[in-house]
Amino acid sequence: MKVLFVASEVAGFAKTGGLGDVAAALPRALAGRGHDVRVVMPMYPRVRTEGRTFETVVREASVDLGGTRVHYSVHAATLPDSKVPVYCVRCPGLFDRPSIYTQDADEHLRFAVLQWAALQLCQRLRFAPDVVHANDWQTALLPVLLRTMFAWDRLFDATRTVLTIHNIGHQGGFDARVLPQTGLGEASHHFHQEQLREGRINFLLTGLLYAHAITTVSPTYAREIQRPEHGVGLDAFLRERSSVLFGILNGIDELAWSPETDALLPHRFSESDLSGKERCKEELLGAAGLPYRPEVPVLGIVSRLAWQKGFDLCFTVLPRLLASRAVQLVVLGTGEPKYEALFTQLGRRFPKQVVYKPAFSEPLAHLIEAGSDMFLMPSRYEPCGLNQMYSLKYGTPPIVHHTGGLADTVAPYDRRTGRGNGFVFEHFDETGLRFALSQALSAWGSGKGEDRERWQALMRNGMRARFGWDERVAAYEQVYRMVAPGR
Ligand code: ADP
Ligand code: GLC
Repeated sequence: MKVLFVASEVAGFAKTGGLGDVAAALPRALAGRGHDVRVVMPMYPRVRTEGRTFETVVREASVDLGGTRVHYSVHAATLPDSKVPVYCVRCPGLFDRPSIYTQDADEHLRFAVLQWAALQLCQRLRFAPDVVHANDWQTALLPVLLRTMFAWDRLFDATRTVLTIHNIGHQGGFDARVLPQTGLGEASHHFHQEQLREGRINFLLTGLLYAHAITTVSPTYAREIQRPEHGVGLDAFLRERSSVLFGILNGIDELAWSPETDALLPHRFSESDLSGKERCKEELLGAAGLPYRPEVPVLGIVSRLAWQKGFDLCFTVLPRLLASRAVQLVVLGTGEPKYEALFTQLGRRFPKQVVYKPAFSEPLAHLIEAGSDMFLMPSRYEPCGLNQMYSLKYGTPPIVHHTGGLADTVAPYDRRTGRGNGFVFEHFDETGLRFALSQALSAWGSGKGEDRERWQALMRNGMRARFGWDERVAAYEQVYRMVAPGR
């Protein structure tokens, strides 16, 4: 099939979180099955150019969005380890900003231009996609663009749309006055009318109404977002479209994330030889400037420090834990000031136990996954979550809240039967988190002898699981075939 995959971030080019990982690995996996996949994303300044050649595909083009003429060019590189072209839409006025996502007044325009450019590119290349695969609010206008402003072009006659929700917490809600600048001024009747009367538009909702199929990134999240507690105002619309809504668990990119081959690790290891993991722990603590003691468990965190990630539970639980137990904590992440302050203060108060790096660092993210003994992810909600899968593969049992993709991947460890791969709390509160942490520490025990053997069996339960995209890609093919039969 011919697939146009449009996303606001793609790992290896520009990434802030899991969307980037998926937008690199899924197209690569689809191409591996013989599909003709093309990826479109913005050209941000951070899109690395070193060692990569970009071919100019469109020297100059423009689009008039509600009286604002925007000029852009398009430059193609290939996705690493594949032949998949990644078309980067270059428009310095819109995309050369310090961060990928902004609070700027023209945020709607930035991603409207991406979507127009993606479809105009198909026209230039005479590329007739069977499926346009949109991701999150930044690309959610594609279904309605195809049904309206691009409907005249026979090129798109057979094109169908799939919209993947990676996070319903971000919807692209804007003042209705910006509607003309989406280029859909003449198609305003396609927006939700009641909202429009109230002076609002919502990119994600518009996509949910018009996409031929909707997917989200885990089966549990697919159910959760159809309920008011997790639907963030869109649950009723999703219930109405439930016959075309599918939860497909994300895979992980096994080229980048396998302890046997990981190029970013100082030592490699596997289920049958765990010694490299212990050396990674030593390296991690050395790099962090913390004392290395094999029998003291290291808790790792790698995360965007956002409300979603549940660190509000940590403000009293972690200081108490650190004051009363021999544990160490290594934290990597940036985000909201109050969480950065929490970890900064923990680092000051417990200098021999805690290190916090307020940074975005892929090598350190890998070292933390490999060198920690447990991984903490108390998310309030988690559409899928990749870090818990990385940590399972790296023999670092995760401690998680039972929600979304965490519920689909982490099974509570049962000491009696030896089954399970991590530690899970049901209710999102401090008691829950304290419970899961104490379960983890009691399973860790002395960290020696029989306790150690039991712990290693638990590690292996996680390492054995198969999380590769090969297991998932067939589910996407099924959705594509459903919307575009006969292809
Ligand atoms: P989300 O997409 O909600 O942030 P996921 O667990 O799906 O959560 O994906 C997060 C991805 O971003 C993982 O690949 C993780 O390693 C990466 N990541 C998050 N914060 C950092 C950081 N500070 N440094 C390096 N990688 C990070
Ligand atoms: C979002 C979600 C995360 C998911 C990722 C990739 O950022 O927060 O749970 O894993 O998208 O789908």
